[in-house]
Amino acid sequence: MTADLIGRLREVVGPSGLISDPGEMAGYLTDWRNAYTGTAAAVVRPGSTEEVAGVVALCREAGVAVVPQGGNTGLCGGAIPDSSGRQVVLSLTRMRRIRDLDAANQTITVEAGAVLQSVQEAAAAAGRLFPLSLGAQGSCTIGGNLATNAGGTGVLRYGTTRDLTLGLEVVLPDGRVWNGLRGLRKDNTGYDLKQLFIGAEGTLGVITAAVLKLFPAVRSRATAWVALPGPQAAVDLIGVLRGLAGDRLTGFEIMSRQSVELVLRHSSGARDPFGDRHPWYALVELSDSLPVAGLDGVIESALGEAFEHGLVVDAVVAANPAQAAALWALREGISEAQNHEGPSLKHDVTVPVSRIPAFVEGTDRALEGAVPGIRIVTYGHIGDGNLHYNLSKPVGSGDEEFRARAGALARVIYDSTRAFDGSISAEHGLGQSKRGIIADYKDSLELDLMRGLKQLFDPRGLMNPGKLL
Ligand code: FAD
Ligand code: MLT
Ligand code: ZN
Repeated sequence: MTADLIGRLREVVGPSGLISDPGEMAGYLTDWRNAYTGTAAAVVRPGSTEEVAGVVALCREAGVAVVPQGGNTGLCGGAIPDSSGRQVVLSLTRMRRIRDLDAANQTITVEAGAVLQSVQEAAAAAGRLFPLSLGAQGSCTIGGNLATNAGGTGVLRYGTTRDLTLGLEVVLPDGRVWNGLRGLRKDNTGYDLKQLFIGAEGTLGVITAAVLKLFPAVRSRATAWVALPGPQAAVDLIGVLRGLAGDRLTGFEIMSRQSVELVLRHSSGARDPFGDRHPWYALVELSDSLPVAGLDGVIESALGEAFEHGLVVDAVVAANPAQAAALWALREGISEAQNHEGPSLKHDVTVPVSRIPAFVEGTDRALEGAVPGIRIVTYGHIGDGNLHYNLSKPVGSGDEEFRARAGALARVIYDSTRAFDGSISAEHGLGQSKRGIIADYKDSLELDLMRGLKQLFDPRGLMNPGKLL
C-alpha cells in the first residue's frame, strides 16, 4: 500500500518533489538540536497549493498522516514525524514566492515556504518593514512562523505573528482549499477563522500562503548594551524608556551573565563590551520611521536617569550599525552557543512583566535546590514577560544523567510559572515536548474546546498527530 501511495504522490509532485531514500530524507527527520528524530514513508515537496491539496487528499484516502514542515527550526519537535515510518513529511520549502506586495495597502502576500528573511528583504526593497524578527530568520519559514505564532524580538512594539496576519490560504485535512487571502484590516462577517490555524502547529491544516501587514521602514535606530544589577532593574528600566521614548522602544532583551558567557566562549569574534563581569545585561533598541537625529540622545538621557536611580551599572551605546550588529549577535548567539554545552533543556515561559523579578528569584532557588551546580541560562524578551529558562548540566556531569532529570526540572519551572499566573509556552508551542503535560497546566474546559475543534477539522486525526493535543 505504501509503495502504491508513493507512486501516486510522485505523480502529483513530480519525480524531483518526492524523496524516499533514507539518506536523503535524514535532514527532514531530525530537528535542529538533535533532540527529536523520526522516520517517514516519504518526504514530499509540492510546488503549488494545488499539489499540496493533491498530496493531502491522497494521504487521507490512504489513511496516512501528514506532518507539515517549514524550515525545521522549531524547538519542540512539532515538525518531526513519529517513528512508525508510515507518516509523510510535507515540506513547504519549494513554495517560497512573494505573490504580491501592495504598498498602498501596506501588505505583502507570500507563500508559506518563503524564508522569513526573504520576506523582510522584499519589504525593505519596497521601503517598508516586515517586523517579525528572530534568531532563526535565515532558515525559518512564514508557514512555520504562522503555525507556531512566532514571537521574537519585536513583539513589544509590533506584536506576535498573529498580530501581523490579515489573511491565510489553507489546505484543509480533507484536501479542500480555503482561500482566505484577504488583505482587510476590518472584516466583521463572523468568526475569524484564520486565527484557528495560527498557533495550531499544523494540526488543523496546511498553511500555503498568507497576507501579512507591512509598516513604514525604520530610518533611525539607537542600540545600547546595558549592565544591570538584576531583573527588577530591567523592569524599571523599561518604564523609564517608555516614559521618554514611547513606542519608539522596539527592542528590550535581557540576558543573565551565564547566557552571555556561553556566547563569549563559543562564538568566534564575540567580545564582552565591558571589562567587568555583571550579573545581568539588557539589549535596548529604539527606532523610528523618521530620520530622527536625536535617538542616541534619547537613549543616553534614559540611561543617565536610570544610572542615577541605580538601575544601570554600566552601558555602551553602539556608535554605528556594525557595533549594533555585534551587540545583537551576543544576544542572538545564545541558543546556538548553548548547544555546545551538552543537552539544552528549553523552557519558554511567560508571566506578567511586573512579576518577573519574584518569579526569577523563586525559580532559580528551586532549580538550584533540585540540581546543585545546574547552569541556568535565562534570557529573552522580558518586555513581553517572556523568558527562555534554559538549563545546562553542571560542569563535569554526564549528559544522560542530566537528561534523566529533564521532566522533573521542567515541572519545577512550570509549577513556578503557574504560581505567577503565567503560561508554560510563550512562543515555541507544545509540539511533542509539552503535549504530555499541558493538561496539568491548562484549563480542562479550554482543552475540551480545542479537542472539539480538532475533531471538527480533522475527524480522522491525520494532520500532524501526536503534536499539541
Ligand atoms: P518548523 O520547525 O518546520 O515547524 C514548526 C511547526 O509548524 C511544526 O509543528 C510544523 O508542523 C508546523 N508547520 C510548519 N510549516 C507549516 C505550514 N505551512 N502549515 C502548517 N503547519 C506548519 N521562535 C520564536 O517564536 N521566537 C524566537 O525568538 C525564536 N528564536 C529562535 C532562535 C533559534 C536559533 C532557533 C533555532 C529557533 C527559534 N525559534 C523562535 C523557534 C522557531 O524558529 C520558530 O518557531 C519558527 O517560527 C519555526 O519556523 P519553521 O519554518 O522552522 O517551522
Ligand atoms: C530565542 O529567543 O533566542 C529563542 O526563542 C530561545 C531558544 O532558543 O531557546
Ligand atoms: Zn525567543
